[in-house]
Amino acid sequence: MTVRQWLLIGPLVLLLAISSAPAASGQSTPTGDAAAGTCIPEGGIPEQDSYLIGMSQANEGEPWRQAMNDQISSAAAAHPELEVVFADAAQNNAKQVADVENFLQQGIDLLIISPNEAAPLTDVVAKVCAEGVPVIVLDRKVEGDQFTMWIGADNEVIGQRAGEYAAAFCAEQALDPCNIIEIRGLEGSTPAKERGDGIRAGIAANPSATIIAEQNADWLREKAIPVSQAMFQANPDVDVVYTHNDPMTEAAIISAQNAGLNLDEILFIGIDALPTPDGGIRSVIDGRIDATYVYPTGGAEAIDYAVQILEQGETPPAEVVLETEEVVDENAQELFDKFTGGGAEATPAA
Ligand code: FRU
Repeated sequence: MTVRQWLLIGPLVLLLAISSAPAASGQSTPTGDAAAGTCIPEGGIPEQDSYLIGMSQANEGEPWRQAMNDQISSAAAAHPELEVVFADAAQNNAKQVADVENFLQQGIDLLIISPNEAAPLTDVVAKVCAEGVPVIVLDRKVEGDQFTMWIGADNEVIGQRAGEYAAAFCAEQALDPCNIIEIRGLEGSTPAKERGDGIRAGIAANPSATIIAEQNADWLREKAIPVSQAMFQANPDVDVVYTHNDPMTEAAIISAQNAGLNLDEILFIGIDALPTPDGGIRSVIDGRIDATYVYPTGGAEAIDYAVQILEQGETPPAEVVLETEEVVDENAQELFDKFTGGGAEATPAA
């Protein structure tokens, strides 16, 4: 099983176009002036035999981002006229700015970007847009509206559902207080703020559910090991561990075990739910993570919209929100089978 097979998530994802930009103005000669916020030249994009797409990835070192790139490659493979070049910013904002500048030099026809952090990438994205090159922003956001469209799941809703799940656990177990610790993603990336705000909204109705400590581990499993170790040392009385992604949850589980805590008494909640051998769904099946939320990468959808923009002269919706799904013991196996393409037993494969 490879992350490529996560493509099969596609049919399950409901696309909700929640707002629409003005219609495209046709396919006549481009003037080079981008209409504000659409990045599409006034006369439309001229017809070409092939199109070059630059894909600027925040950090290829993370499994979820490898899945996004794989989905983009697989979807683009169905369109021989598309060539996609990838750049890895390795979680470095300055490198990502340089990657995008480099794409402009190469003469890309469209930019797909999943920005490392919002503020530092906003200007370069606006620059691409101003040059009449359409920009699809994936998952993490930039500031303002100088891009063609954004595609991603609603991180605040995901956080809120996680909070409601935690609050229900606290109530069921009659825990008062019910101590929650939170391990957060990179602070300047928009999902970290949204997932943090979301859980606070989700637990608001249960006053016994309290976030007693929060720390940042920048989305990274290796950082989350020492961070969670220190958190358990300072707060051994923990009932719920909420982390902003599954790799950090796995790290927290290891630290809790090393600290001699009873894993059965702690609720571990993550986000991503990759259907890979070491991904979140498998972890739920194996009884480590208790709940996780599907966070679709939007890679396949980005290519669909790129084709519409480049080849069909369409101005897409300004925002496309992808659906999530709660993964718990009861549905994990079923979802794993669904995402990996069949009713086979979900055994870890190479
Ligand atoms: C990978 C990742 C995912 C997370 C997403 C948020 O870089 O940390 O695990 O869901 O980014 O942008």
